[in-house]
Amino acid sequence: MQSGMKNRIYYFSGTGNSMRVATVIAQTLGNTEIISMRCNPSDVSAADWDIVGFIFPVYHWTICEAIQKFISELEINPNAYIFAVSTPSFINGFSFEVLDKLLKEKGARLQYGKRIFSVANLCIVYPPFPFPKLRVPATERKIAKVSSMIHKKVTNTYAKAGWLTRLIYPKMMPKYLAIQAEVDKGFFVSDDCISCGICSKICPKKNITMENLHPVFLHNCSCCMACVSFCPKKAIKYHLPPEQLEKINTPFMRMMKLPDKRKRYHNPYISANDLMIDKKYID
Ligand SMILES: Cc1cc2nc3c(=O)[nH]c(=O)nc-3n(C[C@H](O)[C@H](O)[C@H](O)COP(=O)(O)O)c2cc1C
Ligand code: SF4
Ligand code: SF4
Repeated sequence: MQSGMKNRIYYFSGTGNSMRVATVIAQTLGNTEIISMRCNPSDVSAADWDIVGFIFPVYHWTICEAIQKFISELEINPNAYIFAVSTPSFINGFSFEVLDKLLKEKGARLQYGKRIFSVANLCIVYPPFPFPKLRVPATERKIAKVSSMIHKKVTNTYAKAGWLTRLIYPKMMPKYLAIQAEVDKGFFVSDDCISCGICSKICPKKNITMENLHPVFLHNCSCCMACVSFCPKKAIKYHLPPEQLEKINTPFMRMMKLPDKRKRYHNPYISANDLMIDKKYID
């Protein structure tokens, strides 16, 4: 560990949007460690750190169970400047409220929360949108602004879920969250696989093991799309399992498919190698 280091940023990222935000904020702050939420929270405590950040995608209008578990198990300095940046495509929903509740249980609180609208990456449902060539530059400009606010330790009142989201959420989202861990039952690997192991090394849930040079999914998926999007051979395919459609027969579920010709997206500034690293110091 570098001497005098005081800043830690924890990120969860499938297709790199959130890791990109974490990286730029770390470069702006300097002297900062960025840490994947794939790590064991007890190995990467934030108990003695002055600036603590959380960067994450939004799944189903909130933060996913893996992020919630990581934060609830992480030791945090309650006197730190604590910030969060989410990278939703359009709907941030309950993300900051859920995070702040977890922090308050530790005697801390979220002092700055900002959404940075990013490319939507759920390629087993839709192609990347808005068009990355347009949205990525806009997102980059916003990242620079937000980084400078965090550098100044600005505080704000973070965005909360709107009334419509609150009304619809209980009827709509819990059923999708209930099948999220088993979305990988729809993944299968074609003969194009070259056994490179990239999918296994970048999975933020450690949900893929290589057995006899073949990726095997462990059904603890967060549906982040990292494996599908970074596979150099497009060898990870998807078919909606009929039993999942039987359980939830909605237009959204019926959209779940992955045609070979559909574009996969990952953030253009982040490589598979970047996502393999658990901890990185940025000076
Ligand atoms: C399973 C899943 C659910 C998602 N749900 C939402 C959502 O509720 N609201 C939203 O704005 N974006 C949603 N998205 C889009 C991601 O939040 C967005 O693309 C994010 O920038 C991805 O970050 P990453 O590249 O760091 O993984 C969803 C994506 C996935 C994979
Ligand atoms: S990333 Fe693709 S090619 Fe590499 S092991 Fe995984 S499925 Fe096979
Ligand atoms: S198995 Fe694939 S989609 Fe599921 S969490 Fe791992 S990388 Fe993400």
